[in-house]
Amino acid sequence: SAAGLLRGRFSEATDEFVEAFTASVSFDQRLSPQDIAGSIAHARMLNKIDILSDAECDQIIGGLQDIQREIEGGEFNWQVALEDVHMNIESRLIERIGDTGKKLHTGRSRNDQVATDIRLYLRDAVDELMQLETALLSALADLAEQHADTIMPGFTHLQAAQPITFGHHLMAWFEMLLRDRERLADARKRINILPLGAAALAGTPYKPDREFVAQALSFDSVCENSLDAVSDRDFAIEFCAVAALTMTHLSRWCEELVLWSSQQFGFVNLPDRFCTGSSIMPQKKNPDVPELIRGKTGRVNGHLISLLTLMKSQPLAYNKDNQEDKEPLFDTVDTLHGCLTALNGMVPHIEPNVEAMREATLKGYTTATDLADYLVRKDVPFRDAHEIVGKAVAQAVAKGMPLEALSLEELNGGGGDVITEDVYQVLSLSGSVAARDHFGGTAPNQDRVILAGFNNAAVRP
Ligand code: ARG
Repeated sequence: SAAGLLRGRFSEATDEFVEAFTASVSFDQRLSPQDIAGSIAHARMLNKIDILSDAECDQIIGGLQDIQREIEGGEFNWQVALEDVHMNIESRLIERIGDTGKKLHTGRSRNDQVATDIRLYLRDAVDELMQLETALLSALADLAEQHADTIMPGFTHLQAAQPITFGHHLMAWFEMLLRDRERLADARKRINILPLGAAALAGTPYKPDREFVAQALSFDSVCENSLDAVSDRDFAIEFCAVAALTMTHLSRWCEELVLWSSQQFGFVNLPDRFCTGSSIMPQKKNPDVPELIRGKTGRVNGHLISLLTLMKSQPLAYNKDNQEDKEPLFDTVDTLHGCLTALNGMVPHIEPNVEAMREATLKGYTTATDLADYLVRKDVPFRDAHEIVGKAVAQAVAKGMPLEALSLEELNGGGGDVITEDVYQVLSLSGSVAARDHFGGTAPNQDRVILAGFNNAAVRP
């Protein structure tokens, strides 16, 4: 037991409750692939600096590979008494290959070992998440491309504001996710640094070749300070902050999908296989998937706060507090992974209801600003134009008609004659979006420029 390996200085066995209370193996066994990879690199390094003979090194690596197979085959006997993934694997190695196995932990501590494991795990998780985000960016880009000309109302205060295109709206989501992916790539730079060699806290007298280990494990560089290397989890906190921000974005999209798929909006159809029924109301088609993504944002925000709180006030260097980093971190990765996977399945199959969107745009008097701009071009001061148009809208509302159904006389408010026949082109929805023809505007050709840039940048999967 861990007892066996670590309790030389004690006069009694660990209390049974304490054994269970302090154990992490139930959740950190997930780090076994990283733990074994780290141990193999460490063994090779010990061989390189002449602490392990070639034969010993081969024996250790062979043993670790066998253990890996045991774990993958579900044959490994995880023991709570052995506390964590590190002690479980090390004692199994000793069990399998005998005394040579006892040499593996030379110049190493579980403190730099676990920090290395988490960084390896998180680096690979980040790579996978970035791939999912790239796929989702592509799905959004494809849908936006198809709907670069599809008119919908743009909203402020959730009130219909101005005509935009569905493509332009999707490209706003796209921009959010593009930044999230960038943030992940940036966080990865601070994740992918090797702690091993820091040992417990001060380094080790064996003169470890840390560059060699870093290379073997594809780390970009080596932690510069041994105390910092074993004790800080800022890289995990930073990842959770990026994840929380990403979830915040996904939650906003999902809120819109929930609204849009309601009978009240009727803007989009979500694929049936992403919706669920009601146990009592036969007519229901509930958007559970976007609702759940919206809801899961809460747990990710919570994990960020957990890790920040876990880290605050910890004196240097390693403290057992840090064992508590794993569950929030794993759940953050799993949650974000799940949400991105769900959206990857759903986004390509979102069907906009083009007619409903168009109708809502007309009903919302969304070209009122265009009318005001038209008057300004005819030398009416903007504030006067604002008032004239306000009156025209009031008339249209009273008649239950869209703006362009008003006569020139009605538009001019009885008195003036500034508004002439050419206004009807201005009041058209496609005319309105086409007029916003500058970088970043909703004109369809502007979104096509952004999309072409994305396609050319070879960032598609
Ligand atoms: N299970 C521990 C953790 O997750 C490994 C490091 C333990 N180190 C120690 N000195 N007790 O952090």
